[in-house]
Amino acid sequence: MSQVAVITGAAQGIGRRTAQVLNEQGWNLVLLDLQSVDASEYKSYLALAGDITDEQFVELAAKQCMNTFGRVDALVNNAGISCISSALETSADLYRKVIDVNLVAPFLLAKAFGREMIAIGSGSVVNVASVAGLQGVADRSAYNASKHGLIGLTRTLAVEWGAKGVRVNAVCPGWVKTEMDHKDQAGGSYTDADIMDHVPMGRFAKPDDIAQAIAFLCDSSKSGFINGVSLPVDGGWTADGSWQSLRLKHR
Ligand SMILES: NC(=O)c1ccc[n+]([C@@H]2O[C@H](COP(=O)([O-])OP(=O)(O)OC[C@H]3O[C@@H](n4cnc5c(N)ncnc54)[C@H](O)[C@@H]3O)[C@@H](O)[C@H]2O)c1
Repeated sequence: MSQVAVITGAAQGIGRRTAQVLNEQGWNLVLLDLQSVDASEYKSYLALAGDITDEQFVELAAKQCMNTFGRVDALVNNAGISCISSALETSADLYRKVIDVNLVAPFLLAKAFGREMIAIGSGSVVNVASVAGLQGVADRSAYNASKHGLIGLTRTLAVEWGAKGVRVNAVCPGWVKTEMDHKDQAGGSYTDADIMDHVPMGRFAKPDDIAQAIAFLCDSSKSGFINGVSLPVDGGWTADGSWQSLRLKHR
């Protein structure tokens, strides 16, 4: 029987590439996004447009997934929003919005779909966090707090649900070339060179780099005893404690 993966933020970027990779591997897809998803490239899918911070939409998506496919095997909590703003200039409303999308919504989705996984005694939740969930990065108080929180949620669900056969892990991408990066750079806060000079591997991540790691964590035949990890997919960013001149000496 084909397995079923739910992917949030599936319309573009990392979510879209993850949907393509999983579909190529034979997974049925449930594609969720605020925007409508161009699903013509997929074989077997259910696409629903809606806001994942809305608990009613999340419950409806779980119900429709069960009505259509009768099961769910993987949930990829990928949708997220960026927020580049100094702490003193970040309003409480903006801070709450980022936490709502990046941390509360993955919790709602994990409950709605995790319940179904627990019922069949197997499943995998993959949360898309960030290197910003592992380290501080200036001007990102709300975003970094949301991603640190998502890693905390990952570990907690891993220990609550491990004995029920449901694994919960996170991937922590470095900087990836997507719409999010284009918009952030358009705001003038960093350049390609800032990132490439810092990454030991000297390049941005491609959406495919992240999608392959997500697909590995979804697949219990490959990652069946991996539970509660937060896997950096960052070209060595978080491993690197070098100072800038030392780092550049090795290019
Ligand atoms: N691009 C990067 O450099 C980078 C680095 C580290 C982590 N990440 C994380 O990876 C994930 C995907 O990033 P991306 O670069 O592909 O982003 P993106 O902005 O290109 O795509 C995000 C998608 O999520 C959807 N979305 C946003 N809010 C939503 C909501 N409330 N309900 C439903 N859908 C919603 C958007 O419509 C969009 O299609 C995010 O969680 C992001 O924080 C990205």
